[in-house]
Amino acid sequence: MSQRLQDKVALITGGASGIGRECALKFAVEGASVVVADLNPERAAAVVDEAIAEGGQAIGIGVDISQPEEVSSMIKGAVENFGRIDVCVAAAGISHAAYVSREPDEQATADRYDKGDMLLLNKSLESWQRVIDVNLTGVMLTNQAVANQMIKTGGGAIVNIASVAARTALMGSSDYCVSKAGVWMLTKCGAIELARHNIRVNAVGPGYIRTSMSGAATNSEAWVTARTRETPLRRLGEPSDIANACLYLCSDESSFVTGEIIFPDGGIMADSRA
Ligand SMILES: NC(=O)c1ccc[n+]([C@@H]2O[C@H](COP(=O)([O-])OP(=O)(O)OC[C@H]3O[C@@H](n4cnc5c(N)ncnc54)[C@H](O)[C@@H]3O)[C@@H](O)[C@H]2O)c1
Repeated sequence: MSQRLQDKVALITGGASGIGRECALKFAVEGASVVVADLNPERAAAVVDEAIAEGGQAIGIGVDISQPEEVSSMIKGAVENFGRIDVCVAAAGISHAAYVSREPDEQATADRYDKGDMLLLNKSLESWQRVIDVNLTGVMLTNQAVANQMIKTGGGAIVNIASVAARTALMGSSDYCVSKAGVWMLTKCGAIELARHNIRVNAVGPGYIRTSMSGAATNSEAWVTARTRETPLRRLGEPSDIANACLYLCSDESSFVTGEIIFPDGGIMADSRA
């Protein structure tokens, strides 16, 4: 049976952890040569080793997607190694300004922050700006640079990782929610502007997923119980639930789909209270 991304080159930002890591490994198994781009080059290198161990081809690149010159170097590095970029998942993101992604067990103790300082009345301009810079401007810079490269080789598919927070307000997370709502609109604008270049742009909006980002919270039984209760399918999502949606949107199976958002969220968005 042929692989779903045979002979494609895939760039995954945030590829060192969680949803991005799962996309990198799944895409490698499906025949893609994978570029694992991340702020944390050591964790990216470990994912590269895993992808190669699965029989795939992969390289790692260190990048801060909020920095335009670093995004340009990321594209250059990908093309120097694999000659082109056919598909991209923009998964790099932060939940709040001070967020640092770590292994989930380390996250449980490290990622404590005071929700009180996160409320709109107290939010500092600095922390607002950092979340917007990474989650929205970083995705825009990634889409722009990737699309300019894809045009040279006849097109491609881009998937941006948004969130249920693109549509549902979360207490203490106005910067995050606004950044994700922006990613959804960026996706639609990109879709109509880039269609003429044979580039499709779609988004995926995860519900509550077990990754480093939810690591501190998933360690709390009360949090898991509350989020499970909010989710009609009565479980948290796994990174593979999201990577499967990304794989569909990056493969030719979705060749007539652009400007869409899929919510793999266990039914949260279907609930009238969401
Ligand atoms: N986990 C969830 O419940 C959930 C829900 C909805 C949306 N999301 C979104 O999914 C995406 C992936 O998150 P995750 O849950 O896998 O978290 P994660 O912490 O496991 O992975 C995020 C990765 O992004 C990288 N990163 C962060 N800032 C970066 C930057 N400036 N430049 C390059 N890389 C950077 C981190 O180093 C990390 O490897 C994020 O955009 C997040 O907002 C997650």
